[in-house]
Amino acid sequence: MKLMIVGSGYVGLVAGACFSELGHDVVCVDRDAGKIERLRAGIVPIFEPGLEALMLANTAIGRLTFANDLGGLNNGVDAVFIAVGTPPSSIDQSADLSMVFAVARDVARAATSDLVIVTKSTVPVGTGDEIARIMRSTAPKLRFCVASNPEFLREGNAIKDFMAPDRIVIGVEDDPARVALERVYAPLTERGRPLVSTSRRAAELVKYASNCFLATKISFINELADLCEAVGTDIEEVAGGMGLDRRIGSTFLQAGPGYGGSCFPKDCDAMLATAKTNGVTLSVVSSAVAANEARKDAIASRVIRALDCGTEDNVVAVLGLTFKADTDDVRQTPAFPLIHALKQAGISVRVFDPQGMGHARKILTDVEFCHSALEACSGADCAVITTEWQEFCALDARTLARAMRRQRIVDLRNLLDHENFVREGFVVHSVGRPTRLPDQAAPGLRDGGSAPASADWEDVSLALSSNVESGDVVARGRAFSSGAYGAAP
Ligand SMILES: NC(=O)c1ccc[n+]([C@@H]2O[C@H](COP(=O)([O-])OP(=O)(O)OC[C@H]3O[C@@H](n4cnc5c(N)ncnc54)[C@H](O)[C@@H]3O)[C@@H](O)[C@H]2O)c1
Repeated sequence: MKLMIVGSGYVGLVAGACFSELGHDVVCVDRDAGKIERLRAGIVPIFEPGLEALMLANTAIGRLTFANDLGGLNNGVDAVFIAVGTPPSSIDQSADLSMVFAVARDVARAATSDLVIVTKSTVPVGTGDEIARIMRSTAPKLRFCVASNPEFLREGNAIKDFMAPDRIVIGVEDDPARVALERVYAPLTERGRPLVSTSRRAAELVKYASNCFLATKISFINELADLCEAVGTDIEEVAGGMGLDRRIGSTFLQAGPGYGGSCFPKDCDAMLATAKTNGVTLSVVSSAVAANEARKDAIASRVIRALDCGTEDNVVAVLGLTFKADTDDVRQTPAFPLIHALKQAGISVRVFDPQGMGHARKILTDVEFCHSALEACSGADCAVITTEWQEFCALDARTLARAMRRQRIVDLRNLLDHENFVREGFVVHSVGRPTRLPDQAAPGLRDGGSAPASADWEDVSLALSSNVESGDVVARGRAFSSGAYGAAP
């Protein structure tokens, strides 16, 4: 089949590469001429594991091409997919659909024959009706069959998610759209991937309902992590015990700094806006959003307290800027509000991210961008793990202990092997777990290294001094007495 995808961002490029890999002829369109030029030159503008190889392989055989206008629309295209952004509106919580509607209008103007048009962008329920109306009024003589085909890929895992989806949802109101989409996805349904056919409105809502549910799961586990800290137990053990129940499932039960990214925050807001417009209260979703918002402040306060002295002259290394690992996307990342709060408190901030530095440089000011995690930590008083990058797991505790001015880690992803760090004299704060104190024999303590002493750290200080005397080491600290840490997608 011949497919056109309008909007060549995270979703459009992944869809284009994967559709062409499945055997379709695909043209990816974007209004950003520079982006199209780079794509034609083989430069992939986003970091997504596996994407570059797939794109280069399919462009080489001519099955994937790029354009910055709709010129190819009338060359036998079987379906046009809209994959442009639907950012939050600048006026209220709703989704800004101006780009979607602009594409609908442009496609209707450019079309010379009947067409199937499919919305892959995440759009509120009823948007398909409006797209159909716009197209009909723009080109009344043509028949446009408008369908919804929401995308569920996760950045960082997008190729796998697209090629082996849990489900494909198509929302159709007519046979031409149904037949076209069944043919588009035949290579996947033939491999046993389920295709769910619904009304167009239901498909639109499936996407929002799914994201809101996942956001709720994250907010739930984050609040539970706070309770674990308060009662001195470990969220990992609790989540592990919960997750084995198939009704609950083990995914999205990792406590962390709160959800971010380009989807969950805006999609929750847009769903709440839809509910409000329709006179419905979604109190569970509202609470999940409020819990996530509150987490931002709580995380910053935690890091500041972990410094365990005045904020002046303190240096914090923030490791990880993207909202999750394996992407370069920093949209709505939890790292930014944390950095902002640290700066407001007069703390110097050094940052490093394996992939997100390019985007972050356009947004962050007054921070020191470093070339490696180790460079960011050198001379720092505290290191904060904000993103679960695999390469941070390999950080050597001894090297870090020597490089840092004071040995403090706030591991917001429970990523590191904390045992190694306490052995090297670190105080280790994690999420939903007791704070770990330096091992008695740790080099930092042997050299008269500092112990935590603030009011929040009463338990910890006591534990530390008794450890030093008795040799009966480790984490009996009850972490912090208040506040919240967080989970993340
Ligand atoms: N990023 C994700 O993980 C993800 C997952 C599922 C669904 N979605 C949804 O998919 C949609 C796209 O998200 P994204 O992250 O790919 O966005 P993006 O911002 O990365 O890409 C959108 C692209 O559309 C282009 N564009 C805008 N208007 C255009 C026009 N008139 N003609 C041609 N190109 C145009 C932009 O230049 C940009 O390159 C959103 O609705 C989003 O909510 C995103």
